[in-house]
Parts: sequence; structure tokens; C-alpha cells
Amino acid sequence: MLERMDDFFSARVNGYDEHMRDTIEGSDEFYDYTASLLPKKEGAVVLDLGCGTGLELEAYFAVNPSASVTGIDLTQAMLDTLKEKFLGKDLKLICGSYFDEPFGESAFDAAVSVESLHHFTKEEKIPLYTKLCASLKDGGYFILTDYFSKSEDEEKFFRQRLGEIKKEEGLGDDEFYHYDTPLTVEHEKEALLAAGFKSVEVLKNWDATYTLKAER
Ligand SMILES: C[S@@+](CC[C@H](N)C(=O)[O-])C[C@H]1O[C@@H](n2cnc3c(N)ncnc32)[C@H](O)[C@@H]1O
Repeated sequence: MLERMDDFFSARVNGYDEHMRDTIEGSDEFYDYTASLLPKKEGAVVLDLGCGTGLELEAYFAVNPSASVTGIDLTQAMLDTLKEKFLGKDLKLICGSYFDEPFGESAFDAAVSVESLHHFTKEEKIPLYTKLCASLKDGGYFILTDYFSKSEDEEKFFRQRLGEIKKEEGLGDDEFYHYDTPLTVEHEKEALLAAGFKSVEVLKNWDATYTLKAER
């Protein structure tokens, strides 16, 4: 049975950090690596898409304690856990979908997203990334650490399977359901470039998890 995205994460918030750290290949490195790419200047303004319980922010505040971070997440329970970890930090938390929330114009030095965007199609991502690109300052950039399909066949398989399951369960397209449908790295790059980012670089990978940098 598919679970609504926020129900899925609410039900798993206890033990979520341990699960990510203990079972996701490369997680002992990719949170620190992702954080190391974010701006180190005093008061840097950063947007986090799908911040969850804040694993990447824990690593980021360790290198830049004075950063000002806006975190958006669909799941209130994840944000509640995050909030408890970072008392006294300059944090603005928004419970909502990054597809719907306004990001503003030229507002952020950088944006980041870790292990959140692998549920969406290229067509869904282009308008999101267009909004994201416009929200970055001149010279701003987006660091994406997420997992990807190894081939177009794999990408198609998961997307098709999701469609079949939704049909079997009589579910519509008006809700987000938790089912992983990662794009290939190539399709992710195409979405970012189509959205107006001037360059996209693949920086590193740990098995299927890659870190990409897209420059405004
Ligand atoms: C696997 S967790 C990753 C959390 C955190 N970035 C990390 O790496 O630990 C995915 C998060 O993305 C959030 N999410 C999924 N779809 C979303 C959407 N459309 N808008 C905002 N958050 C979303 C979920 O609620 C969940 O907290």
C-alpha cells in the first residue's frame, strides 16, 4: 500500500537519523561533503528543500554556525525534531511543499537538497528549479545530493510501477505518495539546465547517491 508522503515520514521520524546513518551507503560522508560545499561566510543565507530532521544542517552549522537557513518540508513531525536540535540558530522553518511555497527573488546565497527530490518527474522539476534558480543571488548555486537511477530503463520501470500501483489502489495525482522514482543523472542535469541554471557539474558519488552543483 502506498502511503502519503507526510504520513510515511511522520510514522518513521523516530529512528530516522539512525536509519539514514546506518543503512544508506555513503551517508557517513555525503552529509559532511554536501555541507562543505555550502557558503562559509558569516550570515550566509541558505535554502534547504526537504530538510527533514536536519542531517545536512547539522553538518552545515558545524562549519558555519552563523548561517541563516530557511528549511522547507512537507512533514511537520520531521520539522519538530529538527527544531529541537538547533535551538539558538538562525532558522526559518516552513511546513509545506516546495512545489507550492514561494522562494522569493535573489534571496539566497545557495540552496541545498539531500535525499528528497527522487520522487518527482523531470517535467515536475523544471518549474521547481526555475523558481529555485530565480531565488538565488548572482553567483548563487544549488547543491543537490540525491540518489539516481542507473539507467533510463530503471527510471522508466519505477515510474511505470508507481502508475500501476496508484491505479490498482484508486489513487489520484492530487497527493504526494512515498514511492521512489529517481531520474538518471543525465535527466536531472537536463531539468536543471532547462530551468535556467548556466552549468551543472557532477562532483562525487557514493554508489547511486550523487552530488551535483548547479550554478545560477
Ligand atoms: C528522506 S527525507 C530527507 C531529509 C533530509 N534532507 C535528510 O537527508 O535527512 C525526505 C524529506 O523530503 C520531504 N519532502 C518530500 N516531498 C516534499 C515536498 N514536495 N515538499 C517538501 N518536502 C518534501 C519529506 O517530508 C522528508 O522529510
